[in-house]
Amino acid sequence: MSRQSAQAVIALFDSAQALMDAIPKVRATYHGRLEAYTPYPVHGIEKALGIGKSWVGWIVLGMGLLGLCAGFGLQTWVFTTEYPLVFGGKPVFGWPAFIPVTFETTVLLSAFGAVFGMLLVANRYPHLSHPLLSTKAMKSITRDRFALVCEAEKDREIDEDACREVLSAAGGQDLEVVYESAEIGTGELLSPKGVTLGLLICVIAGFGMKEIIIRFPALPPMNNMDEVFRQDAQDPSAFFADGFGMRQPVAGTVARGFMPAVFETAEEADGVLANPMRMTMASLEHGKVLYDQHCMVCHGALGTGEKMMPAYGGVPANLHSQRLREVGDGHLYHVITHGKNTMAGYGKDIAPAERWDLVNYLRALQRSQDATDDDLRLARTVAANSHTESHHD
Ligand code: HEC
Repeated sequence: MSRQSAQAVIALFDSAQALMDAIPKVRATYHGRLEAYTPYPVHGIEKALGIGKSWVGWIVLGMGLLGLCAGFGLQTWVFTTEYPLVFGGKPVFGWPAFIPVTFETTVLLSAFGAVFGMLLVANRYPHLSHPLLSTKAMKSITRDRFALVCEAEKDREIDEDACREVLSAAGGQDLEVVYESAEIGTGELLSPKGVTLGLLICVIAGFGMKEIIIRFPALPPMNNMDEVFRQDAQDPSAFFADGFGMRQPVAGTVARGFMPAVFETAEEADGVLANPMRMTMASLEHGKVLYDQHCMVCHGALGTGEKMMPAYGGVPANLHSQRLREVGDGHLYHVITHGKNTMAGYGKDIAPAERWDLVNYLRALQRSQDATDDDLRLARTVAANSHTESHHD
C-alpha cells in the first residue's frame, strides 16, 4: 500500500446549528461510522446521527434482577435450610423480612451494572486513550468549535478522499486526517507493566497504612468505645444522689428461679398456689427422703402424728385428718414454707421445688392410708410387675 490508510477524517464547524445542518448532508452519501464532538451537549444530535438508545439500561436491568434473585435466594436458603431459626414464633420462610436486604442487593448490583456497564462497555475501558484526543481539532472542540468525524471501524476502512469531499461539501473547515490506529495506546491497564504497577501500589498502600497506624497511635481508627462514660461496680458515683455506683434492684424485682411468697396464711394459699411439680416417681422418691429427714421425727413414719421424741412437748398434726386430706396443695406448701402455730417453717432449709416434692409425697402418704379398691388393684399390678422385673435382674 502506497500510503497509510486513514483512521479518521475530522471537519470543524463554527456553530452547533452549522453542525446540525451538515449531518443530514453527510449521511446522505456517507454510510460509515459518523461521530460528532461538541463542547456542550447539543439537543437532538443523537437522533440526527442515527444513534439508538444506549443499552446500559439493559445491563442495569439484568444486574438488578440478578441482585434481586441473589438477595432473596440467599436469605431463603439461609433461613429455611442452612440455619433455620424461629423468630418470635414466625415461620422460617418469613419473606416480608427479606425485603430490606433484597432491596439493598438489587440497588447495589444495579449501581454496579450502571457504573461498570458505562466504563467497560460504553466507554470501552480499559482503553485509556484514543488517537483523536491528540489532534489539533480536539483542542478546538474543548473551547468553541464543533466537529464531525468519519471514523474507521474494526473491519471497515474509510475512503479518505471521499470523506474529505463529503465533509467539505457539507461546510466543514480545517480538515484533519488521523492515520494512527485506534488500537494503538490501548489496554495499558491490562499489560504486564500495568498489572505490576497496580499490585505494587496495593502493597505499598497496605504496608504504608499499617506503618501509619503503628507510628501514630494517637489516631486510633475508632475511639468512641474508649471515651464512653463507664461506672465500675465498687466505685463511688458523683451522679447518683446516694453516692454509690451500684444500684439497688427496682422495688418488686423477683430473682430468677425464686417464687415470692405472697400469701399470709396457708388458708390464703389453698387452691390459689398451684403445684408445678408433676407427681412422678422421681418426685415422690425425693419427697420421701425429705420427709424422713425433716418431718418423720414429729409426724411419724406414716404421718399419723406419732412423735418419735417423747420429750417434745408439741402435738404434731395427724396428716390423715379429713381436713388435711381436703386442703389444696398450696395449703401444704405454705405450711412447709412458713410453718403453722407451734410448727416452725422449712422455707430456709428446703428449696421451693423440693417443697413441692414433699407435697407430692404427703399426698401419696395420705392415699396409702385411705386407699380405694382401685388403688389396691393398681398396687397389686405394680407389685406383680416389679416382682417379674426383679427376676430379670
Ligand atoms: C418439731 C416437730 C415438727 C416437725 C419436725 C414437723 N412438724 Fe408439722 N407440725 C408440728 C406441729 C406441732 C403441728 C401442729 C401445729 C398446730 O396447728 O398447732 C404440725 C402441723 C403440720 C401440718 C398441718 C397444718 C395444718 O394446716 O393444720 C402439716 C401439713 C405439717 N405439720 C407438715 C409437716 C411437714 C411436711 C414437715 C416436714 C418438713 C413437718 N410438718 C415437720 C410439728 C412438727
